[in-house]
Amino acid sequence: MGRGDRRSQPDHYSIRARKEGFAARSIYKLQEIQRKYAVIPTGGRVLDIGAAPGSWTQFAHSVVGPTGHVVAVDLSPLPELEDFTNVTPIVGDIFDTALIESLAARGPFHTVISDAAPPTTGNRTVDTSRSAALVEQVISLCPALLRDGGTLIAKLFQGGEEQSLLAQVRSRFSMGRLVKPRASRSESFEVFLVGTGYTSQR
Ligand SMILES: C[S@@+](CC[C@H](N)C(=O)[O-])C[C@H]1O[C@@H](n2cnc3c(N)ncnc32)[C@H](O)[C@@H]1O
Repeated sequence: MGRGDRRSQPDHYSIRARKEGFAARSIYKLQEIQRKYAVIPTGGRVLDIGAAPGSWTQFAHSVVGPTGHVVAVDLSPLPELEDFTNVTPIVGDIFDTALIESLAARGPFHTVISDAAPPTTGNRTVDTSRSAALVEQVISLCPALLRDGGTLIAKLFQGGEEQSLLAQVRSRFSMGRLVKPRASRSESFEVFLVGTGYTSQR
């Protein structure tokens, strides 16, 4: 069975997501990271970058509770999130300056989560360098968007840039780690950068 074939099969996590009413199986990656690193606080403000179809936002919304808020951004519309209270869906490009200004006005955030990924081309060099560019952009937004003490999660396709991006995270956060959740498909080359204890003073 080829890689594409396996990814199109509904696995345990896809079936469970459907049963539990989540928009995607990705929820379980964030849930695992949350269990280990408590990245999202109750009552917190969360920015979800690359949010469509919406399972990370759904999960973050359930963790922050009624006193928290989630801002969800994606290039694609977010119809699954329209009926949620305390969720602001925004269609936009995370490289767009006007969008960044409007996000800064809604911050600062306790947590920035990014599952953003480029459309894959099948060319690993192209895909991983586009993914790294997205992660670099997300890291560069921390001073404008993240509170001191805040937390970052960003998905990265592994292609050789992970150590330099991890070093960037470690230079701004008291802890930085690369995490591969069990819910991440074994054949996927994705990994998650986790940074906790953001400081703007370094
Ligand atoms: C894997 S999906 C996210 C899944 C989501 N976390 C969930 O749980 O439902 C990746 C998303 O990143 C978005 N994306 C890619 N580049 C983006 C950019 N420059 N700005 C905003 N969103 C972007 C894509 O449109 C896509 O919907």
